[in-house]
Amino acid sequence: MTQPPAVTSPYNTGMLSNDAPRERGRLESIQRSVDTFTTNILESLPIQANWNCLELGAGAGSIAYWLATRCPDGRVVAVDVDTRHLDAGRATNLEIHEADITRQDYTPGTFDLIHARYLFCHLPDRDEMVARAAGWLSPGGWLFIEEPYDLPAATSPFPLIQRILTAYQHTYRRNGADMTWARRLPALLARNALTEVAFDGNLGRMGGLEKDRWRPLIDRAAPDLLASGLITDADLTEFTELLKDPAFIDIPQMTISAWGRRPSDTLASSTSADSTCK
Ligand SMILES: C[S@@+](CC[C@H](N)C(=O)[O-])C[C@H]1O[C@@H](n2cnc3c(N)ncnc32)[C@H](O)[C@@H]1O
Repeated sequence: MTQPPAVTSPYNTGMLSNDAPRERGRLESIQRSVDTFTTNILESLPIQANWNCLELGAGAGSIAYWLATRCPDGRVVAVDVDTRHLDAGRATNLEIHEADITRQDYTPGTFDLIHARYLFCHLPDRDEMVARAAGWLSPGGWLFIEEPYDLPAATSPFPLIQRILTAYQHTYRRNGADMTWARRLPALLARNALTEVAFDGNLGRMGGLEKDRWRPLIDRAAPDLLASGLITDADLTEFTELLKDPAFIDIPQMTISAWGRRPSDTLASSTSADSTCK
């Protein structure tokens, strides 16, 4: 299942490469901070024990593992361009695919549930990728996508955070990410003939009661933030101090989560319930 090295993502060699020693910590901090929001939405869907699920950009695997537990008579395919943080031994109904999803294809009509979180913002041709994923849904299947939406850096009440977020957003843009694309999600799902389209938002938190969500993100990006020339080492030191201040609390970003369902009677072209890669 291994494919030629992908060229479509900073996850290969760029800023977000899994080769960076701090990537595991960043992925785990993402999971800690947003898994509950994600699984609450998943709980609202009519998940059946025999569902076939596809987790796109599975990262450190928490949602794939959750789905494997919820679908013991089905199976979960967890795909990522770099699978070193995924453990195939976690469940017998779990399959790990190492692939660049922009080059991968699955049999149309295969999956009862496809989920992705913080993946599409990094992909080229995001709209087209939504259409491709929608085509992999079985009749009645659900497509559930969650992506970040940056709030304007300049509106932070903290001048230091204005500088850090300006550098952070600039650096992500330079690496091909679109951190505002998420707003298009409901319309894109509807445009791809999905029904029962719904959405929700999860406001991110920096500081205050939340101690570890943004520290790993900023640490991980620090060399690139410094290279941008938009912040200094002194800013990063000040950020460390600010995180200790109980009066520091801010909303740097939100997550927009949107889901929709393929109608049950539109499967003209699908073949079987097998997810053989094409
Ligand atoms: C920010 S992480 C999110 C991980 C996980 N979805 C979560 O929310 O906990 C993005 C993940 O997408 C993967 N990824 C990035 N580009 C990809 C691509 N073109 N194909 C497959 N996976 C990709 C990365 O390797 C990384 O594991």
